[in-house]
Amino acid sequence: MQRVWNVLRAGLQTRGNESIKRSIWNAEFSKGRWACLDHSPGDPVYRYIERYANHGSILDLGCGSGNTATELNAAEYHDYTGVDVSDVAIEMARARLKPSHAIGTIRYIRNDIYRYIPSQTFTVILFRDSIYYIPPAKIRGLLERYSQYLARDGVFIARLWQTTGRHQFIVETIKRAFEIVELYRTGEASTAVIVFRPPRGVGSAEAGQSGLD
Ligand SMILES: C[S@@+](CC[C@H](N)C(=O)[O-])C[C@H]1O[C@@H](n2cnc3c(N)ncnc32)[C@H](O)[C@@H]1O
Repeated sequence: MQRVWNVLRAGLQTRGNESIKRSIWNAEFSKGRWACLDHSPGDPVYRYIERYANHGSILDLGCGSGNTATELNAAEYHDYTGVDVSDVAIEMARARLKPSHAIGTIRYIRNDIYRYIPSQTFTVILFRDSIYYIPPAKIRGLLERYSQYLARDGVFIARLWQTTGRHQFIVETIKRAFEIVELYRTGEASTAVIVFRPPRGVGSAEAGQSGLD
């Protein structure tokens, strides 16, 4: 029974309408299912975000309960926007803001990644273990839409806890349509941090050097 629910849940989290997705994620955050993500200091993704933020603006799509903004070195960016479909996650993230976070530096917005329209550009657009919840056929189009909101020299950063099995498709999609800037793989499992950007120059739709196999 649990297996049936897991398959159904994965389908609804990826393909359900916004209110279904919100209900599922809200219930899971309320029950503590994602408490394991609350503290992740030392995660390799931070050094890539801090390097490429270049003292600019960060957009965190599927930000969850606020680990990234809480743990990033605030001296490395100007402003941070976290977007998440779950209002429970967004409330948890807001509750973790510290007095040391300058007013207006960090903001959280409840919205669906599909619907959200930024009002500025960003030096980093981050998908930290959230890109799995985009239907595979829509990943490329979504990344192309968000490409408009990358600052000059801005990059996407995708952290994927797992890149094997059905998630290999995500890596392949990024390789095909974008230029890979850096790839980091952790020793354990198949976790990866991929830094990528739209291909430069008209017609160069294929990513140049990938380093991915
Ligand atoms: C596995 S959690 C990762 C959270 C956080 N990025 C981290 O690494 O700790 C995935 C997050 O993506 C959010 N999410 C999933 N689909 C979404 C969508 N369509 N729009 C906005 N957020 C979404 C979920 O609510 C959840 O907070």
